Amino acid sequence: MNPGSDPNDVDAEHHIQLGLTQALCDAASAGADEALTQEILDQLVAYSDMHFLSEQLLMRLSGYPDYGSHVLEHDDLMERLATIQQQHGGGKPTFTLPEAQAILELLVGHIRTQDRRFTDYYRDWARRSAAVG
Ligand SMILES: [Fe+2]
Ligand SMILES: [Fe+2]
Repeated sequence: MNPGSDPNDVDAEHHIQLGLTQALCDAASAGADEALTQEILDQLVAYSDMHFLSEQLLMRLSGYPDYGSHVLEHDDLMERLATIQQQHGGGKPTFTLPEAQAILELLVGHIRTQDRRFTDYYRDWARRSAAVG
């Protein structure tokens, strides 16, 4: 996603992010082998990192007033994912469904509150900018 791009792109990214998290839940519940679970987890971490940074870029670009509290939640989510990455893989205990569900819950909560607030703000901002420019 590029700065100034369609705010719907943010929603499309949420779809992918949630899809990866759902895949993690499915893998955990099906007792998928560790390599596969680890691979999905790695993808979710890489994708979330990219998505959060691009969201933060748009927040700065548009002068979003709640930048600080929003970024705190991004950092918190990334820390949770990093902890899980460290706790599993390489012969450590297998990733469990409750762990995957906790991540899904956090992410859904974030998207419904902080992200919703930001995308509403950003849509308005983009509209106003277009009207002026
Ligand atoms: Fe987001
Ligand atoms: Fe966000």
